[in-house]
Amino acid sequence: MNLEEFKKKSEEEIALAQKEVDDVKDENSLNLFKGKFLGKNSNLTSFFASMKTVPNEEKKDFGILLTNLKTKLNAFFQKKEEELKQIALNHRLEKERVDITLPGYQKELGSKHPFYAIVDDVTDFFLGLGYDVAEGPDVESDENNFELMNIPKDHPARDMQDSFSIDETTILRSHTSCVQARVMAVAKGQGPIKVICPGKVYRRDNDATHSHQFGQIEGLVISEDATFANLLETLTLLLRHLFGDKREVRFRPSFFPFTEPSVEADISCFECNGKGCSLCKHTGWIEILGSGMVNPNVLRLNGFDDKKYKGFAFGIGIDRVAMLKYGIDDIKRFYANDVNFIDQFRKE
Ligand code: DAH
Repeated sequence: MNLEEFKKKSEEEIALAQKEVDDVKDENSLNLFKGKFLGKNSNLTSFFASMKTVPNEEKKDFGILLTNLKTKLNAFFQKKEEELKQIALNHRLEKERVDITLPGYQKELGSKHPFYAIVDDVTDFFLGLGYDVAEGPDVESDENNFELMNIPKDHPARDMQDSFSIDETTILRSHTSCVQARVMAVAKGQGPIKVICPGKVYRRDNDATHSHQFGQIEGLVISEDATFANLLETLTLLLRHLFGDKREVRFRPSFFPFTEPSVEADISCFECNGKGCSLCKHTGWIEILGSGMVNPNVLRLNGFDDKKYKGFAFGIGIDRVAMLKYGIDDIKRFYANDVNFIDQFRKE
């Protein structure tokens, strides 16, 4: 092939490539184009191979033409490749366009379990009166749960709190009163003490208002001048805080081994305002907690001088308060892990 012929072929090749590149519409046809004009079996490759046979004096011009051809073919390919990339990008941008008018996602906030709503509320109330918060373990010694609360082995009061035994000397605590013994042990006979002790307790019990597990908040005050009047005032304030200022509070004589005298507190029924209804079992009153002056035996058993110190104590059922306050019909709902139930107590 002489220079003239090659020039002609080269121009034909360029013209053909120019024509065909216009038809390239996707990656597939681009690859075919590349193979045909720039690949191993392309005319370009065979032109390079024929360089060998070109006479020396023509080699330079031949080389210039060949390089020019290769540059042009490459340029067609690259321009098209760029074009296709841009088309694909535009297509993606179009498809993935963000619609800023769509409503956003909102993280759902959980709500406080009604059980802990009461714990927090009562705790806040007593912190405001200068009380501390003390806690004890759920697995408790028989000694703290019963003996040190003035309930010896053969005492009939044990029957009312049928608990779960771990072994001979250990049980699941049947009330939070045992935390009194722990707090007094730490105080080593030195008052004053002013604590509340919220926590879970366990008994062999099972009906709509009783569960084998429930919560109590214990209160204990020991000082040289604690009086029965202080107890009545404290509990009246607490019950009005929980159930509203309009509630009447009534104290009835009762019996607990760890207090003497003992009283139980009732509030006037908030459903019927004292007239009598099914909630208050037609008495007009709702039983709400137990309390009393700390029995001198308990003071002595726990290392306090009962001539110097006096005290009062109380115990209130967390589930019971929550059931009354929120109108919950079955105590099992607290422990059923039902989000729909708990969601009702959401504070917006
Ligand atoms: N521990 C009692 C119970 O579980 C409740 C109680 C009553 C606690 C009187 C007290 C109290 O501290 O003084 O039934």
